[in-house]
Amino acid sequence: MVITDWPESRARFARARTSLVGGVSSGLRAQMRPLPLSFDSADGARMTDADGNRYLDYMLAWGPLFLGHGHPAVVAAVGEQLHRAQAFGAGHRLEYETAELLLEITPGAERVLWSNTGSEAVQVALRLARAATGRQRFVKFAGHYHGWQDNVLINYRGADALDDSRPVPTSAGQSAAAMSDARIARWNDLGSLERLLADPANDVGAVILEPVLANSGLIEPAPGFLQSVRELCDRYGQVLIFDEVITGARLALGGAREFYGVIPDLSTMAKGIASGFSLAAVVGRRDILGLALGGVVHAGTYNGSPIALAAAHATLATLRETRPHAHASALAATLATGLASAFARAGLPATAHAVGPIAQLVLGPERPVGVEDYLASDFAAYDDVLEAMAARGSLGLPGGRWYVSAAHTADDIAETVAAAESAAAALAGARS
Ligand SMILES: Cc1ncc(COP(=O)(O)O)c(C=O)c1O
Repeated sequence: MVITDWPESRARFARARTSLVGGVSSGLRAQMRPLPLSFDSADGARMTDADGNRYLDYMLAWGPLFLGHGHPAVVAAVGEQLHRAQAFGAGHRLEYETAELLLEITPGAERVLWSNTGSEAVQVALRLARAATGRQRFVKFAGHYHGWQDNVLINYRGADALDDSRPVPTSAGQSAAAMSDARIARWNDLGSLERLLADPANDVGAVILEPVLANSGLIEPAPGFLQSVRELCDRYGQVLIFDEVITGARLALGGAREFYGVIPDLSTMAKGIASGFSLAAVVGRRDILGLALGGVVHAGTYNGSPIALAAAHATLATLRETRPHAHASALAATLATGLASAFARAGLPATAHAVGPIAQLVLGPERPVGVEDYLASDFAAYDDVLEAMAARGSLGLPGGRWYVSAAHTADDIAETVAAAESAAAALAGARS
C-alpha cells in the first residue's frame, strides 16, 4: 500500500505553526518528508501517525531508542520511579547505581558526571579539558557534530572550506568569539591534526571527535587512526574526548572504546543510554572529572533526574543482559545491502553501508570516504527517497542515517527492502 496523503498530520502541522515557531520543536524536524508528520503512539519498531498509518521506524527519535519503543523494562522502571518521586534536586540511589553500571560496561572509565543533553555534556567535557591543561583551544574535525552551541556548531559546505583550519559559522547570531576557540582538522588526516597540536602557539588543550563520523556520512576511522590520535594527544599533552553521544552503548556495549579498542580521556554519551529520556554523561578519567569539584562549574537543575536515571538504569541493565548489538548490527548490514541494491537495480546511483547497528544510505555513485564525498552526494534525490519510503511505511532520517534497534526483526528489514524496491521503481519511472 502506498500512502498518498496525510490529512490529519497536515492539519496538525498547520495548527502548530500558528503557535509553535516553525511548527516543530527542533530545527531539523522541519526537514521531514513529505511533511513533519504527527504521531500518536509507538511500540517496538513501529510508530503510528495521526492518520492511523503504521511505520517501521528507523529514526528511533534521532537515535535514542536502541531498545525500541516502549521496552517493558524501561516503562516499568520509569513508572515505578514516577510513583515514588519525580524529582529531588538532591541525592538518590539511582545516581550512583546507574553510574556504577555505566562504569562497569565502559572500558577504562573511572568516574561519571550526569548532565541532560549531548550538547551540555560536550561543553562540560571541553571546560574540564581547558581546566586540566590550562590551554584555551580545542581541535575538532570537519563535519563532526558536537551540539548546537556557538563554539562547536561549525559546518563545512565545500572542499575549499575544508582546507582552512579556522571555523566557519553555521548559524545566524553565532558568537565569533566562542568560535575562535576551535581549530579544524580533517577526518582521517593525521598530518592536519599534528600540525595543529604540535605548535604551542595554537594553545590546543583538547581534541574532540565522533569515533565514527556518524553525522556526515557514517565514515569510519581509518585502521589505526584513533590509536594514532591517542598517541598524538599523549605526545603533545591534549585531553582526548570521544563524543559518543551516538555510539555510546550502541556500537558495542562498551561503545567505541570497546569497538575500536582505544581509550580516550573522556567520553560524552547521551542517545544510547536512556531510551529517549533526557540524560547525558561525561565518563572517563577520575583526575580530570574530579576537577568538577575543584573549581570547574558544572550545574543544572535537572542533573541526575530520577526519572531519566530510572530509564537509564533499565536501559543499561537490559543491554548488559540481552546484548542486542550483534543482532541489530547484522540487521543493519542486511538493510544497507537491500537498500543499495534496490536503488541500484532501478538505475539510481546509491550506496549504503552499516557500522554496527547504524545504516547509511547515500545517493551517489560511491561510498563516501571523506566528508567532501558525502557533501557532494545528491541530497535532493535522497529526500525524494525518504518521501517515497515514508509513503511505503518505512521512516529513515534526513541526511541518510537509518538506525536499527533491538526490536527490529529480519521480517521488518525484508518489509523495508521490499518498500525500497517499490520506491526505487516509482522514482526511476518518474525520472524517465
Ligand atoms: C555526536 C553528537 N554529539 C552531540 C550531540 C548533541 O546532543 P543533543 O542533541 O542531545 O544536545 C549530537 C546530537 O545529535 C550528536 O550526534
